[in-house]
Amino acid sequence: MATTIRSISEDSEYYAKSFKIIKPQLTRIQADLDKIFEKTIPKKVIVRERGLKVLGIGSGSGELELKHTLQLLRTFPQISLTSIEPVPDHLDEYKQLVAKEADTLKSVTYDWRQQTLDQYRHEVGASKKYDVIVSINSVYYFDDVEDSMIYLRDILEDDGILIIVLVSENGMTYRLWDRFPHLYDASHFHRICSLHLLDVLQKCNIKYDSERIRSDVDLTECFIEGSEDGQYLLDFVSHVIDLRGSTSPECYSEFVSFLKESTRKDSTEENGVRWVFVTEQEVLYIHK
Ligand SMILES: C[S@@+](CC[C@H](N)C(=O)[O-])C[C@H]1O[C@@H](n2cnc3c(N)ncnc32)[C@H](O)[C@@H]1O
Repeated sequence: MATTIRSISEDSEYYAKSFKIIKPQLTRIQADLDKIFEKTIPKKVIVRERGLKVLGIGSGSGELELKHTLQLLRTFPQISLTSIEPVPDHLDEYKQLVAKEADTLKSVTYDWRQQTLDQYRHEVGASKKYDVIVSINSVYYFDDVEDSMIYLRDILEDDGILIIVLVSENGMTYRLWDRFPHLYDASHFHRICSLHLLDVLQKCNIKYDSERIRSDVDLTECFIEGSEDGQYLLDFVSHVIDLRGSTSPECYSEFVSFLKESTRKDSTEENGVRWVFVTEQEVLYIHK
């Protein structure tokens, strides 16, 4: 039976490796986020005679943040961007992406910070304020969610916007965290969905707007015996390092069965049979 169960959030290399496998699956949700950002930020944010100050929290390997920066450049010709990302491999990939777009990004200055939000807060405090703060699926990893929300609102400029994206109660990872809580007894991340965060915001008297977006995640690879990518995908989805080797065979098979039962079977001539999970995320906007 089981050895120690460890969360992928405790091993940055493993996190980066498994995130890489799920990343291509996130393009649809990214496209929806692009549209939302495009319609929201230029309308809500006012910057007078200075550059736009942006803070990305948990920027990952930067694909999303880079797209949003290119979008923002159409409205805000000067941007200074601070990126907080604790995983070194992610930051390296992000820097490489930016280097490829160097000409287009001439008027963007970057402050790369290989640290967590709490480390940043400890170092910088509230001495720097931002017009746009974005956290996409990183809130689970903050030390104290309520305290972090108050801090982020405090470091927002007047007429600024804080955007938090996280899974709803119908989100894939949340449903798994909720169904298999014993896998996470020793984990340090917060197994929260947007309903929890809305409670926190209401408790702190922080006003928000929100909308939900749904997207398909193709999990077929998880169900292919012997697939290495499938195991990494399963580990990202479960948030457990080597789920197969660190849980009992019964638990592993219950997990995989639950996952499969939660998917929709799609079949096309081009792609054959696919197992697709419909996941849901909530986008929260906090204005100041
Ligand atoms: C699910 S990924 C999302 C990455 C990116 N925002 C995206 O949507 O593609 C979560 C990111 O949060 C980062 N992270 C983990 N703990 C963090 C913390 N305490 N503060 C800030 N970021 C953190 C992870 O390293 C990871 O890159």
